[in-house]
Amino acid sequence: MKALVIFGSRYGCTLEIAQRIADIIDGEGIETHLVNLKDTKKKNWPMINAYDGVVIGSGIQISQWVKESKKYLKEIADELKKGKIKYALFVSSAYSSVDSGKAKELYIDKFIEKMGLPPPVISAAFAGVLDFSEDSNLGKIKKEALKAAAKGMTNEKKELEFDYQGCNDLRDWDSIEKFAHEFVDLLK
Ligand SMILES: Cc1cc2nc3c(=O)[nH]c(=O)nc-3n(C[C@H](O)[C@H](O)[C@H](O)COP(=O)(O)O)c2cc1C
Repeated sequence: MKALVIFGSRYGCTLEIAQRIADIIDGEGIETHLVNLKDTKKKNWPMINAYDGVVIGSGIQISQWVKESKKYLKEIADELKKGKIKYALFVSSAYSSVDSGKAKELYIDKFIEKMGLPPPVISAAFAGVLDFSEDSNLGKIKKEALKAAAKGMTNEKKELEFDYQGCNDLRDWDSIEKFAHEFVDLLK
């Protein structure tokens, strides 16, 4: 059995989530390939029918998927519609820390509908990383945009508190690992 974990990440958060998911699937004895779409030339993007299962991930920016993740999904849509390959979707986003159900609806369910994709066997909107620190990969403008969005989120959920000078890693590794194990169970 073979699985593919393929993702698009702008600042590195989705990359680390994808790595963890791939490690877990591989650890369950399923040969797993991990592909970073932004680092891989389009002509080398993997052929989906070589796999029994695929997990596709993306970070979210201004409500949008990473363009390479979206493009890859478009390319494999016909193959997914045949229903032979089990596929899972996940996103990492800030809004998931306010309401993961609503984030899933916004960034996954509506996206699937718009793309005309069949339903995945499992999907999740994981809380991501909001890095306002000096070492952040974000430029000044992006940092300010994210800060404004974070302030809006604290209005919506009062108990949310962010460190506006530091790195806010909101990832819940238990739920990420649970997702990977569930995918393995669905694959077997
Ligand atoms: C400029 C900017 C815009 C963002 N817009 C959104 C958004 O619309 N909704 C959301 O939930 N998260 C948003 N985020 C938060 C990212 O989704 C989060 O930081 C995620 O972990 C990024 O994943 P990546 O590093 O893999 O790209 C935004 C982040 C930045 C920097």
